[in-house]
Amino acid sequence: MLRLMKVPLGATVLDAGCGPGVHSIRVAKQNCQVVAIDISQTMLTEAKKRVEKAGMSSVVSFQQEDLTALTFPDASFEYVFSWGVIIHIKEIEKALNELSRIVAPYGFLALYITNKRALDHPIEAIARFLLRKPLSGQEKLPMGDGIWYDFNGQKLWVWQFDTDAVTKYLETKGFRKTHHIIGELTENQRRVSGILRILLLKLNNLCYRLKLPAVIGSTNLLVFEKIK
Ligand SMILES: C[S@@+](CC[C@H](N)C(=O)[O-])C[C@H]1O[C@@H](n2cnc3c(N)ncnc32)[C@H](O)[C@@H]1O
Repeated sequence: MLRLMKVPLGATVLDAGCGPGVHSIRVAKQNCQVVAIDISQTMLTEAKKRVEKAGMSSVVSFQQEDLTALTFPDASFEYVFSWGVIIHIKEIEKALNELSRIVAPYGFLALYITNKRALDHPIEAIARFLLRKPLSGQEKLPMGDGIWYDFNGQKLWVWQFDTDAVTKYLETKGFRKTHHIIGELTENQRRVSGILRILLLKLNNLCYRLKLPAVIGSTNLLVFEKIK
């Protein structure tokens, strides 16, 4: 991702939705300064601990921020990535507007997101039909399909994005897509354990290395450059 965004040594990179900080550490280890933000104080605390343990505290700073209402001035960052975050934000246009606003002209924005055209979905539909467990409550929206899942007693919104719609939206904000690559082929490794999980992880890795078409992957990495 850093290579695709052409991030030079010593650059400052925004990790928009850092979660437990795994990616912040990876980016910091590539000689970058990282600004790590998240809406959740619990996640920020967890990320701080992890970053400290990795010995990266001097190059990673933290801030509580909501992607739908960022406090940074316009054009604050040349390099922004958001890994598996906007998939949980129902007010997607607000988040994309804010991410677009804070990227500097000729800066880059990388989004790791779900893909509604993935092979996973027809397979899941067949499994649900056979098991008589239909998916209910799915909303068909301009940016893709979304659903509120029950997650540890709380509601969690999950998008299956129409990556073309996301791209078109960002084009209206002055971006052009520079890369669109497959992430994971399947997310089903999260639902299984043991040898099957290991095999699915290896399969995902292979699909990424073979550069299979992004359209079949359950997750995609999209990289955009701000040209206006
Ligand atoms: C699936 S986790 C991904 C975390 C991290 N990027 C990673 O890949 O490990 C999603 C993260 O997005 C954060 N998040 C959700 N909505 C957000 C919002 N509106 N503003 C900022 N962060 C948000 C959550 O708190 C959570 O840490």
